Amino acid sequence: MKALVLSGGKGTRLHPLTYTNAKQLIPVANKPVLFYALEKIVAAGIYEIGIVVGDTREEIIAAVGDGRQFGEQVSISYIHQEQPLGLAHAVKLAQPFLQNDRFLMFLGDNFIEEPLGELVAHFAAPDCLDHAKVCLTRVEAPQQFGVALLSEEQERLVRVVEKPREPISDLAIVGVYLFDAHIFEAVNAIHPSARGELEITDAIQYLIDRGYRVSPHLLRGYWIDTGRMQDMLNANRTVLSQMQGALAPGVEIDERSCLYGEVVLEENVRLINSVVRGPSIIGRNVVLENTYIGPFTSIAHDTVVMNSEIEHSIILEGCTIQAIGGRIEDSLIGRHTQIYPTQGRPGAHRLLLGDHSSIGLMSA
Ligand code: G1P
Repeated sequence: MKALVLSGGKGTRLHPLTYTNAKQLIPVANKPVLFYALEKIVAAGIYEIGIVVGDTREEIIAAVGDGRQFGEQVSISYIHQEQPLGLAHAVKLAQPFLQNDRFLMFLGDNFIEEPLGELVAHFAAPDCLDHAKVCLTRVEAPQQFGVALLSEEQERLVRVVEKPREPISDLAIVGVYLFDAHIFEAVNAIHPSARGELEITDAIQYLIDRGYRVSPHLLRGYWIDTGRMQDMLNANRTVLSQMQGALAPGVEIDERSCLYGEVVLEENVRLINSVVRGPSIIGRNVVLENTYIGPFTSIAHDTVVMNSEIEHSIILEGCTIQAIGGRIEDSLIGRHTQIYPTQGRPGAHRLLLGDHSSIGLMSA
């Protein structure tokens, strides 16, 4: 088996962060979302991995490299999708890499809990009759996803619709799929959808219509499609709440500081008169001074926080955050951001924000 990981796309729902960052590299508990997918794939025993990349390919290649950080046997091939023309288009481009092998397809911004070993082993077995297997989960708002309708005995998919206005069921298609080589027949036969993309949902419907066996797998545990800020915070909260506290070498905590609950302090973190309440993770070389960090907070490396309070937030690397009065909560702050109090008159907020920024100020 091979794996195909899709990491193109524009990440428009996470602007302005994704003007400059690949959405798959936004960190969850200080580790890129994409790395969780790659770890899951390797843990399921798949080592030959193709990653479809788009405009942000340089950044993704710099972060993932040859893949050895995920295991010695791992080999990564990069497949360039010049335009975001759809998931089925990505499969088409990947045919020379995938050849006739069965493969696992994983959307690089999807976040799942269930280990995939059993599912992969089942699909790879010589007696497996399925031509495709689609992971599904029950959701409250099926109109935001691809949706599947199952046969009476729940063993096969009989219909799939991409973001239906009237949901045909509450079973959303999770971004994890297994295919055999019949999928190439499908992706070569379908036409672009109304949004101008070759939809993987249409390719799956093609397989169903031709009588190929497409079976469901109901996912256990959580599934988070990290397309929006709230989803990122949600994923961050979920990972942090399963983490054990740990202190790396070089950590300095002065006698006026303390830690409560599960707190991870990475190399050379310095705490000066500060309190960190877990579950939280503080990245290497971060300095916290006269500061409170509350639960469900991830702070990436080389950030300085002074005279501030932060809770339930993700702060990327290289930021400087200083006393602004009031706690920062439910926030996602991009790299090298500076937040500081303004001085002198007129008393005013002075902002330099990227396009599509969103900033919630406490009213006086
Ligand atoms: C894609 C698929 C959709 C699936 C979703 C899961 O949607 O087309 O069927 O439910 O991923 O994340 P997109 O994110 O491209 O809107």
